[in-house]
Amino acid sequence: MENTPVPLPRTPYPVVSAQRLAGNIARMQALATHAGVRLRPHAKTHKSPVIARMQLDAGAVGICCAKLAEAEVFADAGITDIRLPYPVNPSNADRVLALLDRITLSIIVDDLDVATQWSGVMTRAGKTLGVLVKVDVGFHRCGVDPDAPDVVETIARIAVLPGLSFRGLLSHAGQSYTAESPYALAAIAARETDIMTGLAAALRARGIAVDEISVGSTPTAALAPSQHGITEMRPGNYVFFDRTQVGLGSATIAHCALFVVATVVSRPAPDRAILDCGSKTLTSDGARGFGATPGFGSVFLSSDEDVPDPAIVIERVSEEHATCRVPVDSPLRPGDRVRVLPNHACTVTNLMDRLWLADERGALTPLPVAARGRIW
Ligand SMILES: Cc1ncc(COP(=O)(O)O)c(C=O)c1O
Repeated sequence: MENTPVPLPRTPYPVVSAQRLAGNIARMQALATHAGVRLRPHAKTHKSPVIARMQLDAGAVGICCAKLAEAEVFADAGITDIRLPYPVNPSNADRVLALLDRITLSIIVDDLDVATQWSGVMTRAGKTLGVLVKVDVGFHRCGVDPDAPDVVETIARIAVLPGLSFRGLLSHAGQSYTAESPYALAAIAARETDIMTGLAAALRARGIAVDEISVGSTPTAALAPSQHGITEMRPGNYVFFDRTQVGLGSATIAHCALFVVATVVSRPAPDRAILDCGSKTLTSDGARGFGATPGFGSVFLSSDEDVPDPAIVIERVSEEHATCRVPVDSPLRPGDRVRVLPNHACTVTNLMDRLWLADERGALTPLPVAARGRIW
């Protein structure tokens, strides 16, 4: 945290409730602890070593980062156990080797050729890299196909490669974000567990140790740990939550910690108001959820209540403008301030140099987003 005085924020700025942040961290940790599952939060949501430290102090075993540049920032800040659930390419071998000198690092692989390249890098360097095999549980992004006839053979060959320490299996049920009901969400989590434990059983039957089964997403977090066999969960978004998580039932608005404070800069027509937070603040991400969630965020007129104005819809975002449809009798005037609950907190954070932590009295403290923009 910065110690030097900084000017009060100008809008638009992201404000984070310190109390809700702490509550979200504590609740997710309790959920994991009671289920006997290790929690390894994904730090891409906050990109802040300060918040990562809060998660570790609460009981997390380490963190995840998406990219090596993020991991380098967290390693510089003294975080010593980092997992990259990302298919890091061996062209980055120099950076992985440098990180291995100072932290416990693990990555995922989903390709025998790539794993073999990593094996070569590590044996030449006399080092060992922890790897988990990524399994595609229905998101159809990265991962080995669990239904492929040779999948067990492929993983078995990866598991014995020299220079690699095969830790187990890892999945991310990103399709949970498109679930249309709580039942569909539960079915996605259950299927993920079935696939992962089934594959682990097949590997163990071949004598291959599968020490870890790591799953992770915020929408499925409350569902996954109760399932037998999972050893680790990696939710990220839960530290802040957002409008999408409210839409998916993972949180209520009262759990949401991050809002954008914005100013009305124009009221050019009776049914239109313009805010100073466009796609360079809120991003263009749409909200998802079980019901219809039109617009680029929910607008709150009061600074301290958790009830959005349902009649105000952010219909459009240009880079620096949010175009809102408002009731013709809306009292909003240029200069008025509102709060916006963003659709997707993780991408908003990445656009911000700093978050403003608000204590219970509303006093603000700047919190640098140290790994902001670290996408390489
Ligand atoms: C591989 C992986 N693990 C974990 C997470 C965390 O999931 P969530 O953003 O739902 O908290 C993500 C999110 O993108 C991810 O890609």
